[in-house]
Amino acid sequence: METAMRTHYCGLIDEGLIDQTVTLCGWVDRRRDHGGVIFLDMRDREGVVQVVFDPDTEEHFLRADSVRSEYVLQITGRVRARTAETVNASMASGRIEVLGKTLEILNVAQTPPFPLDAHHSVGEDVRLRYRYMDLRRPEMQQNLIARARITSSIRRYLDDLSFLDIETPILTRATPEGARDYLVPSRTQPGAFFALPQSPQLFKQLLMVSGFDRYYQIARCFRDEDLRADRQPEFTQIDIETAFLTGEEVMSITEGMVCSLFKEQLDMDLGEFPRMTWAEAMERYGSDKPDLRISWELVSIDDLMAGVDFKVFSGPAQDPNSRVAALKIPGGASLSRKEIDHYTDFVGVYGAKGLAWIKVNDRAMGIEGLQSPIIKFMPDDTVLEMLDRLDAADGDILFFGADKRAVVNESLGALRLKVATDLDQIAEGWAPLWVIDFPMFERDDRGGMTALHHPFTSPACSVEALQADPESALSQAYDMVLNGSEIGGGSVRIHDQAMQQTVFELLGIDEAEAESKFGFLLSALRHGAPPHAGLAFGLDRLVMLMVGGQSIRDVIAFPKTQSAQCVMTEAPGTVSEQQLRELSLRPRRPDTPAPG
Ligand code: AMO
Ligand code: AMP
Repeated sequence: METAMRTHYCGLIDEGLIDQTVTLCGWVDRRRDHGGVIFLDMRDREGVVQVVFDPDTEEHFLRADSVRSEYVLQITGRVRARTAETVNASMASGRIEVLGKTLEILNVAQTPPFPLDAHHSVGEDVRLRYRYMDLRRPEMQQNLIARARITSSIRRYLDDLSFLDIETPILTRATPEGARDYLVPSRTQPGAFFALPQSPQLFKQLLMVSGFDRYYQIARCFRDEDLRADRQPEFTQIDIETAFLTGEEVMSITEGMVCSLFKEQLDMDLGEFPRMTWAEAMERYGSDKPDLRISWELVSIDDLMAGVDFKVFSGPAQDPNSRVAALKIPGGASLSRKEIDHYTDFVGVYGAKGLAWIKVNDRAMGIEGLQSPIIKFMPDDTVLEMLDRLDAADGDILFFGADKRAVVNESLGALRLKVATDLDQIAEGWAPLWVIDFPMFERDDRGGMTALHHPFTSPACSVEALQADPESALSQAYDMVLNGSEIGGGSVRIHDQAMQQTVFELLGIDEAEAESKFGFLLSALRHGAPPHAGLAFGLDRLVMLMVGGQSIRDVIAFPKTQSAQCVMTEAPGTVSEQQLRELSLRPRRPDTPAPG
């Protein structure tokens, strides 16, 4: 038997190995024929090395001549320095090359579905269909290697703090985190279904009741929700729970974890994370995950607009559930009519009914120096006072939103990000922060209340105070935000049965429903549940930010498409009649009307 297939990774061959004989295994990245000499760029997970075959070794030279892109080869050769004029500074192994002696073709390969270095020329669907090829690209290799290093670093950090890695079930009951469940029909209990966990939330709380004290899990979560660049139907959490630690301590441990991760992997000091209340984040940035790399802020002008003739503004200014706010874009006066119309359409998606604006052409000229479709509806001194408040200067544009508070926040918050991206006004670097003091509840479309985090989050007040005024109650929840992305969220949990019952009631879950859905949790809370608190990070988002990816699909080996499918395996797929029968299922064909 052969002793070893290879001695070195291609990408790790360097000047230290000059004159040594090495055996490589890998893929043909490129083959070039330079008048009687054949150059093969050989690639493996560590990188690329150049191998040269000259006709002296005829049999192997001819074989080298026959290989094509993506063939799998084993090559033995001698490492030598490149001549000064052939040094390639852009390659890690650019100062050396391997003079090939023998070449074995371990496997041939069809013509690749797309050239790996021209992946941009094909749609993402093609890349995903041939994901095993796409993953050969150095960028994707680096992303997944970085991901493995990141999880390994996190494990080390938590292991050192005596956290225990404990697995929780995938086949379970609904674990509400606000998304739709993925269901799995049961064969043994006809008509009954498992739900895949939206998170291990309830199990990790039960582990605290059991006394495990400090738990973590790199946990797969499943949510059937509308997908975006930062959402996948299955994704990974770094899930953490502790007993007998305060929320402050959880924040400090997890902040320390992210800081040590950035130090270790990127040699970056994040410093102490600032904190901001939810109310302040909404007021100043129109978002509960503000991107602090952008300096622009929303400024409220309700007091100034309450008395103007312009009903579009005075109405919301007088309504406590509404808001009139301005966003100043320094230098934005050069935006064209067409660009402003485009931004008006953009905010329309968030429900804004328009996008009023003022261009400050010459501040010294007072009203005459402004250009705007709305100032004619306002007294001059109101307009000037507003300019003062916004510290408007020549060349600025002010955008306005006047509507229900949520509409103004969402639309101007999104506009802030959009314009900053378009005008390249996002500062380099990292901007982490904690958002704290979230409201317990928010009103849903049907007038009911939903939990802003999840129904197991502890309010910051007593049962009585919560019952008296649920809408203004704050929770003991905290989110970690990095560069405008919510990378983690957690809270102090309810460990008191009466409080949990009260929260269920306020959410419109009556006693019977609470008992049937969460009876096991309520029972556990009656059996000596310790005070506990935790947090979960979105691992995919964290890795995406750390590698500078555009989408979490860039850091997941086999992600789903926007329509929640895997185009490579063609999942979800149909199943046989036999399997359906075993599961006591009969699909309702889209063309047959539902009974009744
Ligand atoms: P939450 O729902 O905020 O909290 O999720 C925690 C973190 O998971 C990430 N995340 C996602 N990442 C990719 N795709 C998705 N569809 C997706 N949904 C969420 C986010 C988010 O911050 N049980 C609680 C945590 C706790 O209270 O301990 C929970 O799941 O980065
Ligand atoms: P109108 O009176 O509808 O012609 O609107 C005058 C200006 O106000 C236009 O620039 C509109 O885009 C803008 N506008 C209308 N409704 C709103 C709103 N709710 N918030 C902000 N701007 C608005």
